[in-house]
Amino acid sequence: MPATRYYRIEDWESIEEWKSFIDMKIELKELKAERLNLQRMVNDRTNELKQEVDKRELKELEEQRLGLQRIVDDRERELKHEAEKIELKELKAERHSLQGMIDDRTKELNHEVEKRKRIELEVAKLERLNVIGQLAAGLGHEVRNPMTTIRGFLQMLQNKTDLLTYKSYFDLMIEELDRTNSIISDFLSLAKNKQTELKRQSLNNLLANLFPLLLADAYTQGKNCIFEPGDQADVDIDTNEITQLVLNFARNGLESMSKDGCLTIKTFMEGQNRVVSFKDEGMGINPEHISKLGTPFFTTKESGTGLGLSMCYSIADRHRAQIEVETGSDGTTFLVRFPQPESVIYS
Ligand SMILES: Nc1ncnc2c1ncn2[C@@H]1O[C@H](COP(=O)(O)OP(=O)(O)O)[C@@H](O)[C@H]1O
Ligand SMILES: [Mg+2]
Repeated sequence: MPATRYYRIEDWESIEEWKSFIDMKIELKELKAERLNLQRMVNDRTNELKQEVDKRELKELEEQRLGLQRIVDDRERELKHEAEKIELKELKAERHSLQGMIDDRTKELNHEVEKRKRIELEVAKLERLNVIGQLAAGLGHEVRNPMTTIRGFLQMLQNKTDLLTYKSYFDLMIEELDRTNSIISDFLSLAKNKQTELKRQSLNNLLANLFPLLLADAYTQGKNCIFEPGDQADVDIDTNEITQLVLNFARNGLESMSKDGCLTIKTFMEGQNRVVSFKDEGMGINPEHISKLGTPFFTTKESGTGLGLSMCYSIADRHRAQIEVETGSDGTTFLVRFPQPESVIYS
């Protein structure tokens, strides 16, 4: 039976039945409407809840995000701090190494400046010697000739019987003339154009031959002298000149000491250099005098000539040797460094 037919009263057995059917229908309609309503409410609520949930989730997520952001910030700060620390460390290391480079360079420059100063002093000294040498060569001979004449006449007069009472005077005059002559000899040996005859030989042998003479000299002054020869290769030297040099250094050393003082002469190698040193126990050299050492006629002794050291410097120069002096209150050491023979330029 089609549903629409039930709405007609004639299709029903009784009116009650139809009424109850209609009531049911109405009720159904109302129920449907209610259901729809409820459904809408549920939907709204669901939407609301959904929104709520979304909101809450968003909030949580936002909180989480903020939390994470905070961690990231902290970490970033830490990293930045760490990076700064590392950078600082690196900068420090760099600064350290740069400072080291600066220090090295400063040291090198200072060394260079000192070397330059030494060379300038050396050149000035050599120039002085050169002038003196030229003067000496001419003047020495001129003075010596008349002196030889005077000495000859004095010797002749000395033996005259009527002048015998004055013999001691004549002796003294001749002695003084001889002393003057030896000073002129020293002076002449400063002449730069003097020919140096270099011969390859052992410095130890030369010193061993001279040693008895030095020892006798020391003993007569109540002092001592020691010779400590070391292993040393041969040197190219002029025997006479180096004998002069040794005697001058030894004499100065002995003269600087009071009684019982000891002069020590040593030989040794220093790289390729052959070295001889003269160490005394004197009271040292006044710092103000150091720069004057080697200047002709510079002396602090009452009866000194001031020629010994200038002779030594001029001899060393002809041998391409270097002289170094170390001095203090407990004594002075003069070191003479001869170069390896091959590097010597013969003049
Ligand atoms: N070993 C030394 N100790 C102290 N002073 C020295 C030494 N050697 C040289 N001198 C100083 O150098 C000066 C010059 O020496 P030198 O040229 O030999 O001349 P002199 O010995 O005739 O004085 C000396 O007067 C002395 O002042
Ligand atoms: Mg002297």
